[in-house]
Amino acid sequence: MPSDRVDPHLFVIVGGTGDLTRRKLLPALHRLGAQGLLDGNYAILGVSRDTELDDDRFREWARDGLETGGAHLRSWCDDRLYHIGVRGDEASYRALAARIAEIEQRHELPGNRVIYLALPPAAFPGTITALGGAKLNRSDGWTRLVIEKPFGRDLASAQKLNAVAHQYFDERQLYRIDHYLGKETVQNLLVFRFANAMFESLWNRDRVANVQISVAENLGVEDRAGYYDRVGALRDMVQNHLTQLLSLIGMEVPVSYDAEAVRYEKVKLLRSIAPVEPHDVVFGQYTEGNINGAPVVGYRHEPDVPNDTNTETFVALRLQIDTWRWQGVPFYIRTGKRMESRLTQIAVTFRQPPVCLFDSLGGCPMNPNVLILTIQPDEGFALCIDVKTPGEPFALQTLPLRFQYREAFGDIPDAYQTLLLDVLNGDQTLFVHADEAEAAWRLYTPLLERSADVHPYAAGTWGPTLADDLITRDGYRWYGPIRVSA
Ligand code: BG6
Repeated sequence: MPSDRVDPHLFVIVGGTGDLTRRKLLPALHRLGAQGLLDGNYAILGVSRDTELDDDRFREWARDGLETGGAHLRSWCDDRLYHIGVRGDEASYRALAARIAEIEQRHELPGNRVIYLALPPAAFPGTITALGGAKLNRSDGWTRLVIEKPFGRDLASAQKLNAVAHQYFDERQLYRIDHYLGKETVQNLLVFRFANAMFESLWNRDRVANVQISVAENLGVEDRAGYYDRVGALRDMVQNHLTQLLSLIGMEVPVSYDAEAVRYEKVKLLRSIAPVEPHDVVFGQYTEGNINGAPVVGYRHEPDVPNDTNTETFVALRLQIDTWRWQGVPFYIRTGKRMESRLTQIAVTFRQPPVCLFDSLGGCPMNPNVLILTIQPDEGFALCIDVKTPGEPFALQTLPLRFQYREAFGDIPDAYQTLLLDVLNGDQTLFVHADEAEAAWRLYTPLLERSADVHPYAAGTWGPTLADDLITRDGYRWYGPIRVSA
């Protein structure tokens, strides 16, 4: 989007002294400002429960968290950052409204506002109601509300959250963030599919044998046990990030590249996924093991994790999409913490040729063509094809045709930077619609409601062995990291 479309605005962050604000939001806003993409006229207001924190100390705290230092950073913080402590009662939200008006007057801002809820999910409904009560859902300009995932913890709570949000805000004002959609490599999935006719013509049950999506992390729960143990991998990763990848890989061609058309196709895809059978789900929890040669503790021994918890840190699923395009093509997805390596990768395995021409030569098995789309960390793709090795005896070898992002383009922008700029430009294409969030919960809520075993896996592995059985019983296997760099 061109920079001249960013209107002068006030960016209000509720949860303004939290980790997300410091690690992601302020750095992204600072970079956007430094790159001249914000048009100069804007201010940022951090809202927190800390009623003792004044503007100066908030600026100092923000400065410490930003990587780039120097005089420019100091003046950026001093000129634009403000803070207000809000206790949560009606009076303090009225005080918030007054502070907003005062800052807007000082900066001569026309009343365009982003209100970003950088809060734990349980705080969303109450905060939205309080904002509405203080009439902060409308202004003289535009008002956009940003909500971080997870959007609810099951279908009922997602519907309730959407209902509260819609009581005060129109869907056009709501920006539900799933930061995976801001990743360049994720956005590229649509370009890859719909700007390159050769792939789209192969993208169906006649040519594709199976699709697998892995989002593996080698980090553990870190210091987020308070959140994570109540949530688990299905809610934290599958319902949102992995489902977004699945939607972009599986959806039909939208009529245009805009929010309405893209989100419509994603919802359609989600609605066509068959209910997941119990034997198509594997839950796991990591036990002690080794990551990069260093010993790490099991999940139950992580700080603040109850030692008898059954929260899953790993999920593998086999999904069936009942459409003309995908009927009979299994989609396998898996995600886990403390896995062997950090890897977000989509593998599209194509069907084998109907007849193996080289069988008669003996010892010459052909491998299926596999398209590997690496979302991170080695961003790019590899198309694995069989080639003849030179000389005798006649033999085949599978080799990748590769493309690597960094080689072609250098550094890739951070997802939050992309998404915040889209919020400011009023572009909802990369945000989750209410219907989409509910469609995903409709699929996964039954899995949360039935009790399932949680299988142990050693940290530093690729998850419980049952997750291998889930795919090997169909005659396939999980792909580990396939390098896109030479
Ligand atoms: C977050 C999850 O949404 O995504 C975390 O809450 C997870 O548990 C993170 O670690 C992964 O994001 P990324 O961008 O590092 O793949």
